[in-house]
Amino acid sequence: MTDILEIADLKKLARRRVPKMFFDYADSGAWTESTYRANESDFQKIKLRQRVLVDISNRTLETTMLGKKVSMPVALAPTGMTGMQHADGEMLAAKAAEDFGVPFTLSTMSICSIEDVASVLKKPFWFQLYVMNDREFVVDLIHRAKAAGCSALVLTLDLQILGQRHKDLRNGLSAPPRFTPKHIWQMATRPNWCMKMLGTKRRTFRNIAGHAKSVTDLASLSAWTSEQFDPHLSWKDVEWIKELWGGPLILKGILDEEDARMAVATGADAIIVSNHGGRQLDGAPSSISMLPRIVDAVGDKVEIHMDGGIRSGQDVLKARALGAQGVFIGRPFLYGLGAMGQQGVTLALDIIRKEMDITMALLGKRDIEQIDRSVIDSVNF
Ligand code: GLV
Repeated sequence: MTDILEIADLKKLARRRVPKMFFDYADSGAWTESTYRANESDFQKIKLRQRVLVDISNRTLETTMLGKKVSMPVALAPTGMTGMQHADGEMLAAKAAEDFGVPFTLSTMSICSIEDVASVLKKPFWFQLYVMNDREFVVDLIHRAKAAGCSALVLTLDLQILGQRHKDLRNGLSAPPRFTPKHIWQMATRPNWCMKMLGTKRRTFRNIAGHAKSVTDLASLSAWTSEQFDPHLSWKDVEWIKELWGGPLILKGILDEEDARMAVATGADAIIVSNHGGRQLDGAPSSISMLPRIVDAVGDKVEIHMDGGIRSGQDVLKARALGAQGVFIGRPFLYGLGAMGQQGVTLALDIIRKEMDITMALLGKRDIEQIDRSVIDSVNF
């Protein structure tokens, strides 16, 4: 594995191992993908201060996210259809995260269910919720997350309507995949993926199928999902969810100072500065460029995390320096999963950990808690 040194190497491998429609689903952004690209490229506009001749022995990346100890401030983001990057993907990624000592967040739109993931873990994981029109289903989902011992709820606010991703439409994406000649070809050229997928029963949205009323087969599932994202969602609903859940609540999809203040007013425990990985509003600023403004607005009132564009440990340190307590990674762990299953997720985390550790030393710091704006030379957004 000496040829896998950075996240980009895992991406290359995943592209070769995952059927095109699912690789593209993870890899794409909305419309022109300008926000998707900006999420990554804006990290290059932050320059770090190189310091020398300070004691850099005995370094630690340990800190907390939402009051819980983590081995480094990197959580796995909730990503849809993770179980299509690799058979049983959510269960494998969750195990890798647990062993690594970082949080795993299961998406509502996962392939493995809340119960599937709980069955392979010893410790609590986090659950991400979409508020659907079918409120009975939402209540049931929250009860299931509680019953499975989930320790935080991540409520996504920026996907009440879907930003268009051209590749998904061109690929005719669905889970399970359809069996047209194009889809059969995409899968037949990935025999290992197919073998593993045939070996699991988890091939559709298992949080939904068999749980939502009237969803009994693939046709009813796709009809149900397409009409379920609620365009009326409001801050009142956030209060309702907070009450119903009764535990730590993280609001995901905040990209504006005014929304950040509203999030604080609802009593959220944390917010995630996010543009959904550039998958929703194309033309929105990058998450990292909005982070300092949101930190200045509400950083003294709420814990702030960010996601979008993290591809290295250096990126994590830059986000931390600009005020994020932690970051969420989506694509980096999905590339690892698609490339090599659980081992690939561990490798993605390990690559980021090593990059953070060495870079922190080159900044002249020994402890992640010392990483603040003083390590930044300049920011040129
Ligand atoms: C779902 O969260 C998506 O971005 O596709």
